[in-house]
Amino acid sequence: MKNISRKILLNPGPATTTQTVKEAMVVEDICPREKDFGKMLDSIKDDLVKIVHGVDTHHAVMFTASGTGGLEAAITSAVPKGKKILVVENGAYGTRMVKLAETFNIEVVRYQLTYGDYPDLDQIESLLKNNVGISHLAVVHHETTTGMLNPVQKICDLAHQYNAEVIVDCMSSYAGIPIDITKWDAEYLISSSNKCIQGMPGLVFVIFKKHLLEKIKDTKRSFYFDIYNQFTGFEKTGQMQFTPPVQVAYALRTAIDEYFIETESGRWNRYEENYTILFEGLASLGFEFLLPDHQQSKILLAIKEPAFPNYSFDSMHDYLYERGFTIYPGKGAKEATFRLSVLGDLHKKDIEDFLKCLEEYLFKIKTLKN
Ligand SMILES: Cc1ncc(COP(=O)(O)O)c(C=O)c1O
Repeated sequence: MKNISRKILLNPGPATTTQTVKEAMVVEDICPREKDFGKMLDSIKDDLVKIVHGVDTHHAVMFTASGTGGLEAAITSAVPKGKKILVVENGAYGTRMVKLAETFNIEVVRYQLTYGDYPDLDQIESLLKNNVGISHLAVVHHETTTGMLNPVQKICDLAHQYNAEVIVDCMSSYAGIPIDITKWDAEYLISSSNKCIQGMPGLVFVIFKKHLLEKIKDTKRSFYFDIYNQFTGFEKTGQMQFTPPVQVAYALRTAIDEYFIETESGRWNRYEENYTILFEGLASLGFEFLLPDHQQSKILLAIKEPAFPNYSFDSMHDYLYERGFTIYPGKGAKEATFRLSVLGDLHKKDIEDFLKCLEEYLFKIKTLKN
């Protein structure tokens, strides 16, 4: 395969992938209705559950979509008609779940916070206590808007006390931050093929408690994103109902193999080391951060837009982009920020090279004549 130049993506996915994941997409043509392909998908499904230690308790189902498709599948399949969903909304992805539920006329109880504020468990409890008919609570594990790691374990415990099932958006944490779904006891977890699992975009998956399958059989709000139909259809035929992204699935198979070779702790340690180098390097260049340390996911940093003379996000972006580094703008956090993420196939030297390049940019704007 031709040598593809390596770009350092510091946006939070689609992530920098390994050469071998890229190569895995170049396969002989195959009809996705063939048994060989079905077996491969089945092995992916099993491994997706293994990654969060839920083999005995949870199933996985895949859809052809970006991450939002998986949220749509979980919310529209899970919440029974006439029931409500409580959404913890402290970032743009919490708000996305609110909008999604409202689109399907599902009644939403919003726990609305400024983007970047930490959820208060007492307030969640009083919303659960004072609203009759909440059957589900939805929360984002790693809120990619700000880099905040929400307290999912505590939120799950609380929701269960009030008989609410929990839907956790783990889009940008799954396969990066170690998760044990049996400890959380979460009913639904959603992630996609292109973030910490380090595959290509195009597949999303919902991991859900096995016993819920019968319960959601008749909910039926969506034709395409119906968990019951998609899961049972695959069990019967070994095929996805609708055309799967064949090459993306092969890439995901390889990405999962590489995850198991690196190991859960190996991946987390690499991300954490990259994060620490990035954090310390940025701090020494004079940048400040949106969140206090103890709220950080250590996968993404929201960095306050600096007041350096001649600075602009666009000029910094373009300078870095031309040199192989992609950075990411902010997304409505409580202060103006830009974002840098360490998720993906990134290594110590990549982060060090990035910091050098950033330093060059800062030197350049400092010496500009106004
Ligand atoms: C926390 C979170 N939820 C959901 C999504 C899904 O977005 P998309 O549909 O663009 O993949 C993302 C993507 O960045 C995310 O970070």
